Amino acid sequence: MLSYHPHPMDPVRIDVPTPSRTYAVTIGDGLLDRVGAILDEIGAPARRLVVSSPLVWRLHGAQLSRAVAIGEPILVPDGERYKQLSTVSRIYDALVRAGADRASTLVTFGGGVIGDMAGFAAATYLRGIALVHVPTTLLAQVDSAIGGKVGVNHALGKNMIGAFYQPHAVVIDPLVLATLPRREFRAGLYEVIKYGMTSSAPLFERVARDRKAIFGRAIEALMPIIAESCRIKGEVVTADEREAGPRRILNFGHTAGHALEAVTRFRRFRHGEAVGYGMLVAAELAAARGALAAADREALATVIASLGPLPPIADLSAAAILEAMQHDKKIVAGRLHFVLPTAIGATAIVDDVKEAELRTALRKVGFAK
Ligand SMILES: NC(=O)c1ccc[n+]([C@@H]2O[C@H](COP(=O)([O-])OP(=O)(O)OC[C@H]3O[C@@H](n4cnc5c(N)ncnc54)[C@H](O)[C@@H]3O)[C@@H](O)[C@H]2O)c1
Ligand SMILES: [Zn+2]
Repeated sequence: MLSYHPHPMDPVRIDVPTPSRTYAVTIGDGLLDRVGAILDEIGAPARRLVVSSPLVWRLHGAQLSRAVAIGEPILVPDGERYKQLSTVSRIYDALVRAGADRASTLVTFGGGVIGDMAGFAAATYLRGIALVHVPTTLLAQVDSAIGGKVGVNHALGKNMIGAFYQPHAVVIDPLVLATLPRREFRAGLYEVIKYGMTSSAPLFERVARDRKAIFGRAIEALMPIIAESCRIKGEVVTADEREAGPRRILNFGHTAGHALEAVTRFRRFRHGEAVGYGMLVAAELAAARGALAAADREALATVIASLGPLPPIADLSAAAILEAMQHDKKIVAGRLHFVLPTAIGATAIVDDVKEAELRTALRKVGFAK
């Protein structure tokens, strides 16, 4: 699946052969300059429209417009609170006004919020037009741009409205991460650690070892961790496009993580930060069961701590987190499915986690009574 090149600066191409579409994820420094050429190579419909946010466009729009003829970009706000149908509606309006048709390709250029919203617009406008993601946050580059989940929030729940709609291509240029605020960058790194914990001890060890160069956004340090994360996500999505089975391992850290986000009304934590806590909770649980060696739990806690401080949780009660978990999407037929680490790079999915065990794990991680 992955063609590695000896020189780290050469682009890496990962093919993602899902049942509904096969597409390439290409990762390379300076690839932003080649977006037009890549779209031509894959035969993407000739008319190209870009959806981006004002900030991303101000920072990187000039470079993208030199590489691909797009006319006026469609700019929409990208805060999580704008990830809703009314913003998608604005994208539809702009597409209609621009006369977008089946001969058009919609290019998303931004973080996960832009990718999810504009991807949903592409999936539904004229029952689907060609979609290419050019993600600009670390989280979008290693996670949301791959796998075809698109959609928006409903006032009563996150990502409640959406579709599976695979892109025609994903083009990743790690150099755009130079402008990403440190906190956003770290938020993406927790997901990289997740991939390491679930699927790749070498990736986990690399993050721990190269932390300084990664934070320095050195291209030789970023390329391998992004490529390996994309390879893992691509493989899991290929095996299980609609998350009926194996894709669930990528929910590692997300059960407690989502509950934590919900309890704090999506305001205190970046998603990745909540996942950081969620992974610690899952690891405590696994260690208490004897399913995870104490040294491996310790290694996870150490690497998470090494990224910097997480927002405080001492004022949040374990009871509130437990209550929020009852509303989890991962509850199947009344049972909460929990992804437990069994070693660095390996997991097991269990459905017999007792409330008392969870409470103990939450307390150990630092939640209040
Ligand atoms: N579809 C999926 O499978 C999937 C997976 C994970 C997460 N998500 C979704 O992704 C969203 C989060 O994505 P995100 O973390 O990228 O957040 P985001 O899109 O809100 O971007 C974070 C911030 O970074 C800014 N930004 C983006 N690129 C930048 C750059 N290069 N330089 C400077 N600033 C930049 C944005 O303007 C924004 O303010 C959530 O809505 C989540 O539900 C989807
Ligand atoms: Zn996540």
